[in-house]
Amino acid sequence: MIWYPYEQMKTMKEPYKVLDAEGVWLHTAEGDMIDSVSSWWSMIHGYKHPEMNRAIISQVEKFSHVMLGGLTHDPVQRLSAKLQEFLPGDLDYFFFSDSGSVAVEVALKMALQYFMNRGETERTMVLALEHAYHGDTFKTMEVGDDEDYHFVMNAYGPSPHVAHIPTEIPALEQAFEKYHHRLNCLLVEPLLQGAGGMRMYDVSFLKRARELCDQYGVLLIFDEVATGFGRTGNRFVADLVLPDILVLGKALTGGYIGHAVTAANKRVFDGFYDDNPEHALMHGPTFMGNALACAAALQSIRLFEEQDYMGKIRRIEEITRREMAGFSDPRVREVRIMGGCVCVEVKDGACLKGYQQFACERGVFARPFLNCLYAMVPYIITEDQLVQVLSTMKAWFAAS
Ligand SMILES: Cc1ncc(COP(=O)(O)O)c(C=O)c1O
Repeated sequence: MIWYPYEQMKTMKEPYKVLDAEGVWLHTAEGDMIDSVSSWWSMIHGYKHPEMNRAIISQVEKFSHVMLGGLTHDPVQRLSAKLQEFLPGDLDYFFFSDSGSVAVEVALKMALQYFMNRGETERTMVLALEHAYHGDTFKTMEVGDDEDYHFVMNAYGPSPHVAHIPTEIPALEQAFEKYHHRLNCLLVEPLLQGAGGMRMYDVSFLKRARELCDQYGVLLIFDEVATGFGRTGNRFVADLVLPDILVLGKALTGGYIGHAVTAANKRVFDGFYDDNPEHALMHGPTFMGNALACAAALQSIRLFEEQDYMGKIRRIEEITRREMAGFSDPRVREVRIMGGCVCVEVKDGACLKGYQQFACERGVFARPFLNCLYAMVPYIITEDQLVQVLSTMKAWFAAS
């Protein structure tokens, strides 16, 4: 039996069965649906993209995977060189892994060991955000702040190794004042907090965070697993404020194969680079640098650059603002739009019950959560398709 994610298996509704998929379309046994959530925010080029498929097929004909321990290969070397040029600043040192959660774990381990290698062993603490989501592995649950997903952590009680603050500058300043000598890093989902409720905040918070991290020698980590590759309307939020460690996943491979990268700057890398073997980063996922994933990522970045994806995202935001202008309903708390993300936050999540089936009947696949009805569409979506997604969201309130 398949054990599905985030589901009470006893009461879960039968999932839609996908028979085929192409472009924005999921062809399911229940009918054709536009995937309005891009397979958990990853499938930016749409399904069955001919060039993505070709890149993977051409690599599979050579080899699909070899380990990176003691071996290397052309796709991982080319991806590393490409990321070096594509990412901002000196985020030039790339540790690959198989998922966003693991890549965040790697970032946190890097931050902790960076200070251990320097003998600053009191720096065991992570400063993170309220409503943060960084994955479902144990350390990412610990630094996360998401009761709805991670209540199992209550078994351990509050962690002495993490403090959570709201995205407000006074709270940030107070936390640095109080904890700076114990902090190894500040970890944030920059500008857009996804799974914690599609919360959007201002870049001034990140600019102040950068200043405080510099002042106290604390590492700044951006988890751009969800926001990277244009979702906020910026290529990376790291283009606006440069972190010391940047984590990318999801759209890294265009959503074609699970893979992620933890990109560190020279300061972090140099904290490990010496003659002491104990200063090495002791981590090595079996599938890190998987050749198919690297081939997919290279092709995905090529499409992103050559086909003006930032222009496509600007267009998505413009159409979304136009279509959502003037929309209101007594059950709605707020409509938030940023780049390729729109969220209708309702006052009580119970009023979204039944939306998934309603949307399915109108040719849209959606997956509301908590009190968020949202869309993060594939960037190749046409205007008509996007209007269909947004009209379906509005129609729900008119109909219910
Ligand atoms: C901001 C953020 N970090 C980390 C993760 C975890 O990524 P993965 O599901 O690939 O482990 C997610 C997944 O939604 C995410 O949104």
